[in-house]
Amino acid sequence: MLGTGGTIAGLADRPDQPLVYRAAQQGVDVLLAALPELQGLAIEHEQVAQLDSKDMGAVVWQPLLARCAAQLARPEVSGLVLTHGTDTLEESAWLLHRVLAPRKPLLLTAAMRPASARGADGPVNLLDALRLAADPAAPPGVALVFGGELLAPRGLRKLHPQRLSAFAPGPQGRLGELYGGRLRRPVPPPGPVPVDEPPLGLDPAGLPPAPWPRVEVLASHADADGALVDVLCAHRPADGRPLAGLIVAGTGNGTLHRGLAAALARARAQGCVVWRTSRLPEGEVIDPEAVDAGGQPLADLARPMAPDAPLPCIALSPWQARVELVLRLLAQPGGRRPG
Ligand code: SIN
Repeated sequence: MLGTGGTIAGLADRPDQPLVYRAAQQGVDVLLAALPELQGLAIEHEQVAQLDSKDMGAVVWQPLLARCAAQLARPEVSGLVLTHGTDTLEESAWLLHRVLAPRKPLLLTAAMRPASARGADGPVNLLDALRLAADPAAPPGVALVFGGELLAPRGLRKLHPQRLSAFAPGPQGRLGELYGGRLRRPVPPPGPVPVDEPPLGLDPAGLPPAPWPRVEVLASHADADGALVDVLCAHRPADGRPLAGLIVAGTGNGTLHRGLAAALARARAQGCVVWRTSRLPEGEVIDPEAVDAGGQPLADLARPMAPDAPLPCIALSPWQARVELVLRLLAQPGGRRPG
């Protein structure tokens, strides 16, 4: 079990006020000690980080990937459980899925209510995740154990700021339901968490330390004139990294206001990689150009990208698309343009 913080490790000042709390206050040892039902399971634990996941990023991801890879490589480890805040969980889940593609279960879990609140959901989520990770019938791969469900990483989204059932699955849907830590009614039948993206070939233990390539997210909307794109391209942060990529959350099927589209063309001419996705909370963009790939926009990324070619689509949420582009850029030997 690896801990990174989050509300699951949070403490509320008053048990009846679950929204007034500090995340990431309890260590994984304390979370485990609160679950006497786990006696008999051989659980090792490690605190990889202790933060509110709103502050997640490459500084934590780089060592986290190395620690997960090292633990997964141990033959005596049947599975990993990772506690994480809900706010950026879908980004870390995508990162772990894409870089590690593990052949053992790597189960993220989290909570909407802090550990000391009435009706805290963390303990049961953690219990389910640990029991499932120890179960030989658990499907290999990265998944989220939350609210009695097992959810695939692709397209996973936190959709609600307070509701206990805060997550919605993506197109791969629910992998199953959990009762007492046992997987029931798996849909589809048990099998590995689907991986239908081309492998990245990144060495999880060999990734460079932060900062990673600078990729920003912005949206198309009424009156979107692209001024923000020009500002981002001109900006040089303290570490000097130029803007390497932009994810644009377009309207509908990834369409863009014409002012924004013109600014994005200028950014591409300067070498910035631009990918389109949709700002809509459900469904995936379908690139009408991607006839050969059967409308699978992830496969489109293998197409050569001339700066004047139509902006490629990616069938991920803007947040998971950002992680994907950062990883594609890291995977390029010397270049910044994936494809
Ligand atoms: C966080 O993401 O760390 C805080 C919110 C949560 O875990 O629900």
